[in-house]
Amino acid sequence: MKTTPVTVSTPQFAFLREFLKRRSGVVLDENKLYLVVARLLPVMRQRGIASLDALLDRIRTASDPAIERDILNAMMTHETSFFRDKAPFETLKQLIPTLVQSRGPMRQLVLWSAASSTGQEAYSMAILFNEHFRDLLATWKIRIIATDISDVVLTRAREGVYSELEIVRGLSPLLLKKYFTPFQGKWRISQDCRRLVEFRQLNLNDFWPTIPPCDIIFLRNVLLYFSVTTRKAILDAMRKKVRPDGALFLGSAETMLGVNDGYERLSGTHCSCYRVKR
Ligand SMILES: C[S@@+](CC[C@H](N)C(=O)[O-])C[C@H]1O[C@@H](n2cnc3c(N)ncnc32)[C@H](O)[C@@H]1O
Repeated sequence: MKTTPVTVSTPQFAFLREFLKRRSGVVLDENKLYLVVARLLPVMRQRGIASLDALLDRIRTASDPAIERDILNAMMTHETSFFRDKAPFETLKQLIPTLVQSRGPMRQLVLWSAASSTGQEAYSMAILFNEHFRDLLATWKIRIIATDISDVVLTRAREGVYSELEIVRGLSPLLLKKYFTPFQGKWRISQDCRRLVEFRQLNLNDFWPTIPPCDIIFLRNVLLYFSVTTRKAILDAMRKKVRPDGALFLGSAETMLGVNDGYERLSGTHCSCYRVKR
């Protein structure tokens, strides 16, 4: 089916912005009009929908949850990679021995990758444990909870299969050899890593009663898509989830400054790593 060239009117853009914000908290910048065409055209083609109005009508009439899901997924940025930015993982490695000392009686650590996208962040944590804390894995419960609003990325994350391009972004040949096996022209994460990670769908802009107290939270490269009010609310809620001696990591371009004063930055970490203020 042919789709006519797509242009986006101001009311269409406003409608889409409101939908995205209401459903996910994501705020589409005024100057991101071009994104709408680039991202929604594939959805229209795949579904055989001829115009943007017809696509948006499916939201208006709430007649097709699958299309709403596809639009939400298409409008979001899922950019990620293994060991993204390196410093947060180096810091995590340094924090674990102290956490292990204080969690002795429980013999459990809980880590949360709170906007996990296709899983590389959570699997990087799992690789880190296999690489540097293998003894711990034998006797402790290491839970890595990985959540995202998009079930599309979560399906990919659960499969744990990555293209060559995704692999070379962040993984050394040595780690590739140790923790991946060839699978249909791609690479599949090893069971040693896969078994540590639980993937779940979760909207950060909602309540999260199922998330237990966490020792480590990676809330990286997602807050920047929200309004300051939403960021503050999520960080307030995170204060109740991260243990007092645990740590919360933001993306390298993200900060608490001017957003939430309930945290203090951990010095000497070379990354946006925070602890709850006492
Ligand atoms: C840019 S990726 C970040 C991935 C990873 N944390 C990293 O730093 O590489 C942002 C992810 O946030 C997810 N996301 C956006 N809004 C969300 C929300 N309200 N709740 C949960 N996840 C959300 C998107 O689906 C996307 O996969």
